[in-house]
Amino acid sequence: MYGLNRAYLLIIVLTMDALKMNFKDETYDVVFDKATLDALTSSSNSMKDTAKYISEVYRVLKPNGTYICVSSSAPELRMDHLRQPGLNWDVKFVKIRKSFKIN
Ligand SMILES: C[S@@+](CC[C@H](N)C(=O)[O-])C[C@H]1O[C@@H](n2cnc3c(N)ncnc32)[C@H](O)[C@@H]1O
Repeated sequence: MYGLNRAYLLIIVLTMDALKMNFKDETYDVVFDKATLDALTSSSNSMKDTAKYISEVYRVLKPNGTYICVSSSAPELRMDHLRQPGLNWDVKFVKIRKSFKIN
């Protein structure tokens, strides 16, 4: 039996179009994306889809919310999308090391 002070993480999986999310405005503190932006920048309608996706992420984030985007792309290929007009957020790039050892 787990102790009362044990932290739990509840994950609910929903399937929907990221270009038209079924969430109300300003719902989430954090949006985490691993390679969805990368996929959309490779779509046949990439400029329109990417702009729509980012605007959806922005819409569902609470004011001062955080969008964490894990991408394998060079940052200069993503910054224009993240800095499109109408987005009132700061954009920071953090490089994650490919691997590290635990001794
Ligand atoms: C490169 S994969 C990354 C999958 C997973 N996040 C990972 O890191 O293994 C990109 C994902 O974006 C999804 N995707 C692309 N366009 C989408 C859309 N319009 N709505 C929802 N998901 C989409 C694809 O189905 C695919 O699962």
